Amino acid sequence: MLRVVDLIKQYRTGDRALKGVSLDVPDGQVMALIGPSGAGKSTLIRCVNRLVEPTSGQILLNDLPINKLSQAQLRRARRSMGMIFQEYALVERLSVMENVLSGRLGYVGFWRSYTRKFPQSDIDAAFDLLDRVGLADMVDKRADELSGGQRQRVGICRALIQHPELLLVDEPTASLDPKTSRQIMRLICELCKERGLSAIINIHDVMLAQMFAERIVGLRLGEIVYDGPPEGLTAEALTDIYGEEDWTATIRNADEDDGGEEAVDDQDYAAPTPDRDRLAGMT
Ligand SMILES: Nc1ncnc2c1ncn2[C@@H]1O[C@H](COP(=O)(O)OP(=O)(O)OP(=O)(O)O)[C@@H](O)[C@H]1O
Ligand SMILES: [Mg+2]
Repeated sequence: MLRVVDLIKQYRTGDRALKGVSLDVPDGQVMALIGPSGAGKSTLIRCVNRLVEPTSGQILLNDLPINKLSQAQLRRARRSMGMIFQEYALVERLSVMENVLSGRLGYVGFWRSYTRKFPQSDIDAAFDLLDRVGLADMVDKRADELSGGQRQRVGICRALIQHPELLLVDEPTASLDPKTSRQIMRLICELCKERGLSAIINIHDVMLAQMFAERIVGLRLGEIVYDGPPEGLTAEALTDIYGEEDWTATIRNADEDDGGEEAVDDQDYAAPTPDRDRLAGMT
């Protein structure tokens, strides 16, 4: 699906945000990208759809060399990459439905979209998606009347309505409460499974990453320092990624053989532990 080879990004300021990152994401894989602030997580996913221009390296999406495409080719290629941001910039004064439909702008001609004439099939698809994420009765609400979790659901629908093959997700839960965070992560992962999508999810919350992603990549100072399964995130691995800290509480679930129930049944969210708070403060 996605192949990143020796990706380097040096910003004009001289910051080397990525120092030669290589990564393959197979079809249907949900991967969490973790790492401290400034590690290059956002830069990496933004290079993949060229919101940020890579300095060198290769990005291949199903063998299509994304980094070599012209602007017109890139516009087409971007349709297969859905992007979900933290506090996704919805158009505040537009309705939920209109915001979701705006995800079709890559397909519907400009004038048609300008006059907001979307084909019925798009409207039906938007209804189905909003129903799927539990917002069926909010289609007419304005975006600025929604809670953070609801906004994120609209952002998810907006990304999915373009039928992407790859989802690029940047901190989907950063401003959400713990329970809503789980619901949003679960929703993203379920939708990926249902639709066979691959995803790269940047996330600060290590526990959430471990709970929902099948693979975790840890970035530190623009380099991959961990790439493996969630249960491989030992204290040593977390120290490699984030630096010295007492990781006991963070890795406890991963180390427990009988922790399956807690890991699977996450309907009842346990209150954040002090260590979890400390981790959040650090990252
Ligand atoms: N537009 C920019 N111009 C110059 N430097 C930048 C720019 N964007 C990011 N950087 C630098 O690149 C490095 C990586 O930033 P990036 O935003 O990718 O980190 P991140 O891992 O997403 O961090 P966070 O967890 O805080 O979102 C940082 O040192 C940052 O200062
Ligand atoms: Mg970031």
